[in-house]
Amino acid sequence: MFDLIVKGGRLPDGRVADIGIRGDRIAAIEPALEAEAGEVIDATGDLVSPPLVDPHFHMDATLSYGKPRLNASGTLLEGISLWGELREIATVDEMVARALDYCDWAASLGLLAIRSHVDTTPDHLRTAEAMIEVREKVRGYIDLQLVAFPQDGLYRTPTGRENLIRALDMGLDVVGGIPHFERTMEDGRASVRDLCEIAAARGLPVDMHCDETDDPLSRHVETLAYETQRLGLQGRVAGSHLTSMHSMDNYYVSKLLPLMAEAELNAIPNPLINIVLQGRHDSYPKRRGLTRVREMQAMGIAVGWGQDCVRDPWYSLGTGDMLDVAFMGLHVAQMTSPEEMARCFTMVTETNARIMGLQDYGLEVGRMASLVVLDAADPVEAVRLRPARLAVVSKGRVISRQARGDAALSLPGRPEQVRRRHDPAAG
Ligand code: FE2
Repeated sequence: MFDLIVKGGRLPDGRVADIGIRGDRIAAIEPALEAEAGEVIDATGDLVSPPLVDPHFHMDATLSYGKPRLNASGTLLEGISLWGELREIATVDEMVARALDYCDWAASLGLLAIRSHVDTTPDHLRTAEAMIEVREKVRGYIDLQLVAFPQDGLYRTPTGRENLIRALDMGLDVVGGIPHFERTMEDGRASVRDLCEIAAARGLPVDMHCDETDDPLSRHVETLAYETQRLGLQGRVAGSHLTSMHSMDNYYVSKLLPLMAEAELNAIPNPLINIVLQGRHDSYPKRRGLTRVREMQAMGIAVGWGQDCVRDPWYSLGTGDMLDVAFMGLHVAQMTSPEEMARCFTMVTETNARIMGLQDYGLEVGRMASLVVLDAADPVEAVRLRPARLAVVSKGRVISRQARGDAALSLPGRPEQVRRRHDPAAG
């Protein structure tokens, strides 16, 4: 007897299986379960995946587009200064309300684990207070990790470092940073060392905005790899963005990538925001705003896709759908072989979960019963269509249902038909 059976779905590895759920755990995965169940979801012909995961987001700023004004230049720097105005007038209640709205979108799309950077610059720390409240409120259906993120630089404001420590003491989960935004290269390097030492002393992971610039001489990722190695933080450190690597000299990169692999550094490019923010100082040719994804993967470095922004001072669009993120990443990184397209799906599910250190994640017996049923035949079709999430199960409970994306066609000279978006050749 199971509480819930998800029947006949195709798993990302191609197996067709029934998944039996008891309480909040996956109790069985077998070709055909004959047992009774309180509820059955028929997933025949559909993709059943572990949840989508976003390892890079800013929930304190989300859904604030246009407040208090628009980002006229469209640059990272104007976005930062605009956010600096907003965080002074945003109340805890307003930030909580925006974040909860976003989490509703996320839950409906099967996005059930999110790492969010929380700005710890302001002395009031309302940002941290609000996001801790949100983490608690969504705990039953979304795993929210909070990064203490000194948006204006660890050393550029008199209380930047002190406030980051205060926010960690309040219970934030991860140590963040922004070395390329410190006043000098030397300050940037010192901030990486300082922040990694803080993380090591507290037993916390590290996730830094690192080298989010087109400047090929922004090489803080080198220091991040070095400090990771020195402090024994292997596997617990992520570099987010890493866009300067796009513009770096090839010889230097041939030295850098093995150092990153040796330190087991994780990488989180954010293709939606990187493609709109980077290259803004170029005329033509205009550089692609993305780090070297395939090259890092070829070295064995874990690379996941992050979303970064939805409707905020930096990015006017966004939906909360990690398949949009994978779709953009696939295009900008030119990951178009069948294997690479499928990998883009793995990046927004299993790879992101590994980068976030989620212990209980995945479609395996004994793990947390969280999954999403997609109106697609396989992972590549999921990225191509970004289809309906027919059912979302979080911690054993069905939390969302959505109708299929079929169209009822009435075409002249043709019989009425229901057109599925599935490609019959797929799956
Ligand atoms: Fe970010």
